[in-house]
Amino acid sequence: MAFDISRRFMLTGALGASVAGVAGCATGAAASNELAAFPPEAAMADEALLGPAPGVALLSRNENPYGPADTALKMVNYGGRKGAYYAGDAYLELAKLIAERHGVEPEQIAITTGSGEALSAIAMIYGPKGPIVAPRLFWDTTALYASRLGMAEIDRVPLTPEMKVDLAGIEAKVSESTGLVQLCNPNNPTGLVADTAAMKAAVKRMAAKTTVLVDEAYMELADDPETNSCIDLMKAGHNVIISRTFSKIYGMAGIRVGYTISSPETAEVIRSTAMSWISGVGLAAAIGCYNDTKFLDYSKSKIVEARDMVKTTCGALGLEYLPSQTNFVFFKSGIPANDLQAKLAQKQIMIRGQYMDYVDWSRVSMGKIEDVERFCKALPEAISA
Ligand SMILES: Cc1ncc(COP(=O)(O)O)c(C=O)c1O
Repeated sequence: MAFDISRRFMLTGALGASVAGVAGCATGAAASNELAAFPPEAAMADEALLGPAPGVALLSRNENPYGPADTALKMVNYGGRKGAYYAGDAYLELAKLIAERHGVEPEQIAITTGSGEALSAIAMIYGPKGPIVAPRLFWDTTALYASRLGMAEIDRVPLTPEMKVDLAGIEAKVSESTGLVQLCNPNNPTGLVADTAAMKAAVKRMAAKTTVLVDEAYMELADDPETNSCIDLMKAGHNVIISRTFSKIYGMAGIRVGYTISSPETAEVIRSTAMSWISGVGLAAAIGCYNDTKFLDYSKSKIVEARDMVKTTCGALGLEYLPSQTNFVFFKSGIPANDLQAKLAQKQIMIRGQYMDYVDWSRVSMGKIEDVERFCKALPEAISA
């Protein structure tokens, strides 16, 4: 067999049960207390156990409420019915599908419990070798995870005055003793896609000195994903790792599937460093919808429609906003971001609070059109007074 992952996954198996499932499966005396406190029937009837409570416009977490696709849900049902069994070779089936789309070999794919797990593993693998050089503002959760464990130091490079990733500034810091360069393209929270030619030239040069990770969690939402992705650099043999997820355009944030594309050797190290085993339900769902272009096109059209509404609203109010190519928009409201967050929360509209010292910049995610409409209507009053 070309790559030896099935043994590990077959022996240790899938995560299997969801939190709700575990609550419903408790046995014995302790269990009856637990069930009394948390009966599964009540949990299932509780609209807000997972996802936003009724009436809440959840626009703070970059989810895609149009997902999961029906093709994923059918497989969730199937995966649940097969939940007694470890996931085994389903891993290979998904790896094959992903590899086929990108013109790589299945052993170049590492599938994880959300891309966050792969990104954490990567921070733990490369962090001890030297600093993680990254933009000042990026999705830093996983680098911070390794940093908290004493396994990484993040060397942040300020954004340019236009809030772009300063590729030249980052490159100037990179040497053979850099542990990792971490870029997020499109970036979070700015939503900006890097200039393709400049990005690829810089990544190539940096990858000659160290490993470059490009987190492309939102790339499918960009105007031209094929051209902007750095997958071609990895395929050409540069020391580049690409990370993708089913949490964004696929609308499966709660189902937890992500993956990396890299050299086979790097993929093997990521697989052996990742801490959990992807659930059979997650694999089944991802296999079900991976090539569901109808759903993907629909999701993207809804997200773009919502994005245009936010841009139009900001424009009409004279607010500066960044030309996002993602499912969120970063805009300068003119009032402290935490105040705006609190004001909108009073109307059950949830957006993100302040990032670092970007005091009056706020990030709003694209949820359902009607929820984004509520945000657009509430914004003028929220920023006045
Ligand atoms: C840029 C980026 N990368 C990765 C992730 C992690 O996503 P997940 O672990 O759900 O794949 C997020 C989550 O918001 C993100 O914004």
